[in-house]
Amino acid sequence: MGAVFDPKTYESTLRIANLHRLEVLTHKLQAPKWPADVFGPIDQAKAAAGEKIFNDTCRGCHQNGLYPMIVAGTDPLRANSFGRPVGGVPFPAMVKPVLDGLKARAFSDDGISAADQAAMDAKQVVWRATGQYLARPLTGVWATAPYLHNGSVPTLWHLLHPAQRPAKFIVGNREYDPAKLGYATDGNGWTFDTSQPGNSNIGHAGDTYGAKLTEDQKDALLEYLKTI
Ligand code: HEC
Repeated sequence: MGAVFDPKTYESTLRIANLHRLEVLTHKLQAPKWPADVFGPIDQAKAAAGEKIFNDTCRGCHQNGLYPMIVAGTDPLRANSFGRPVGGVPFPAMVKPVLDGLKARAFSDDGISAADQAAMDAKQVVWRATGQYLARPLTGVWATAPYLHNGSVPTLWHLLHPAQRPAKFIVGNREYDPAKLGYATDGNGWTFDTSQPGNSNIGHAGDTYGAKLTEDQKDALLEYLKTI
């Protein structure tokens, strides 16, 4: 058995090994560290004060839980669109056979055996419309502007100052704003227009989201968000 070298089996074994390796590697990814040499040092006392505010106000939600739009208050279009019926059939039910077919085709193209398929599909995939938004852990958040599921809020400062969020701003700028924590919103680029369907920058506002924090407290919170 082992004496015959089968290039096809060998190749598919390699592919599976690589897929597994990639999956394992993603768990080792580290959040980018705030580059103090370029953007200036972090004020550790201020960040420590911010950590307490974060624990009291934000951490409870930001643990990978799903929240109804009504709670997040953000633009509902994305959460709703996946649940919209197509030809009288709920979209997740409509899309399932298409996606199952695509997967079967990919397995077959790659010559992956039934046993390997079962191993790779150990966790069953369920297509469903949650109508909700994810409150992700905020690791590395200083580096992931613009914010919210639709990228409608340019900086973390603007997220904490809902009344001052811009109705239109430029995206595609590489100039980072180390004071507001996000990319600069002027210059050349593409204009994000929050008046377009699905682009609204509403929500994540009000007392639950830190509206009552003083400017000093918001400042400390931003300092802490540089460190996670
Ligand atoms: C009631 C639950 C809840 C609380 C409290 C909360 N958040 Fe959120 N947050 C969410 C949800 C849900 C989303 C996703 C909304 C979306 O994508 O439109 C979100 C999105 C965000 C985002 C955008 C993440 C991204 O990837 O773009 C940031 C940043 C954020 N929250 C920071 C905070 C901070 C800072 C606080 C505390 C002042 C806080 N949140 C309090 C539920 C919460």
